Amino acid sequence: MTEANTQPEVNIGLVGHVDHGKTTLVQALSGSWTDQHSEEMKRGISIRLGYADATFRRCPGVDEPECYTVDEECEDGSASEPVRTVSFVDAPGHETLMATMLSGASIMDGAVLVVSATEDVPQAQTEEHLMALDLIGIENIVIAQNKVDLVDRDRAVDNYEQIQEFVEGTVAEDAPIVPVSAQQEVNLDLLIDAIESEIPTPDRDPSEHARMYAARSFDINRPGATAEDLKGGVVGGSLVSGELSVGDGLEIRPGREVDEEGQTEWRPLETTVRSLQAGDHDVETAHPGGLLGVGTGLDPSLTKGDALAGQVAGEPGTLPPTREEFEMKVDLLDRVVGKEDDESGESDIEEISTGEPLMLTVGTATTVGAVTSARDGECEVSLKRPVCAEEGAQIAINRRVGARWRLIGVGTLA
Ligand code: GTP
Repeated sequence: MTEANTQPEVNIGLVGHVDHGKTTLVQALSGSWTDQHSEEMKRGISIRLGYADATFRRCPGVDEPECYTVDEECEDGSASEPVRTVSFVDAPGHETLMATMLSGASIMDGAVLVVSATEDVPQAQTEEHLMALDLIGIENIVIAQNKVDLVDRDRAVDNYEQIQEFVEGTVAEDAPIVPVSAQQEVNLDLLIDAIESEIPTPDRDPSEHARMYAARSFDINRPGATAEDLKGGVVGGSLVSGELSVGDGLEIRPGREVDEEGQTEWRPLETTVRSLQAGDHDVETAHPGGLLGVGTGLDPSLTKGDALAGQVAGEPGTLPPTREEFEMKVDLLDRVVGKEDDESGESDIEEISTGEPLMLTVGTATTVGAVTSARDGECEVSLKRPVCAEEGAQIAINRRVGARWRLIGVGTLA
């Protein structure tokens, strides 16, 4: 890999209980973190994926794992060489992270589970996140046993054994457990070594149709820009298959809502790719991994304020259908996610019933649907806002419990 070629090539989910050190760990590995979600949090559960890219490097002439670093300069003063750029994916809020995971299997290629050595294992969210990884079948997992600087050796060993016991029989059974201190930057070389061997860049077929899930969309023009300076709308998201190049045609679905003589209908948008930004660089061709910004020829009023968030983009004529209603198979979780023991409301999950509203996350889209029919393990929903999704798509299902939407299960589009 050359210095110029640092487009992230693999997405790694960062999961674990609150305060166990996810943010600190990503900061230590990447020097940055996209913790800018305050505005987005206000909108409740929504999928605003947070990405932070980290370039793993190696010091020439040094053996593994000590050779691994994220610094450009090695201890002996020589220059390190880039090995691979990875993108860490987080999402604001625990329930959103769960919804992201359960609906966006294709967005994460592997995961780092952060477990603090200072607390008994498992804490509630450690358990829930591992359950989500298990459900969606993410097998490439590394466990970071964090905050080892805060405990003595005996406690660290006890905790290590608790983690081993906890992952037995799960998808993380064979995952390496690496003791680290994110804050003191201890053992990061071992962690990088484990990620390098456990979470490889998937083999991807560049000839597959390009498919991108839009998580954001923007109008990047300053107020008062003149007609000739006006730049087309920008769509940000995650490419999950194929490649996208400047000059390619692009279809976006569901597109925009058109009102004609009192009848509303959703029409796909068509445009061309005018520019591409991946890993902070302008590129001619982008492949899956990390967050992608696509400059288009669309009227920026169509992309303003995340108007296209949740939509799907790809080669014209190859996208799944737009659905205003669908049928799904339903797998309910054992208990409601994100609910504390002292909160009111049921923890057990009742069957879905006809007439109840559900909030559904499909890919990066979140939409409310009314259940029009429900029977054993299946239900039909009619959506307020349509989604573009194919048969077999995973859906995170949320129900209103008390005053909030809570994740209760996973659907598969029939
Ligand atoms: P949420 O984003 O709220 O889920 O938390 P998080 O998992 O991202 O945890 P965060 O990185 O914010 O860390 C929580 C606290 O633990 C902060 O005060 C950190 O400074 C501290 N911390 C994180 N890692 C370490 C570590 O390795 N050692 C010590 N001593 N403190 C740590």
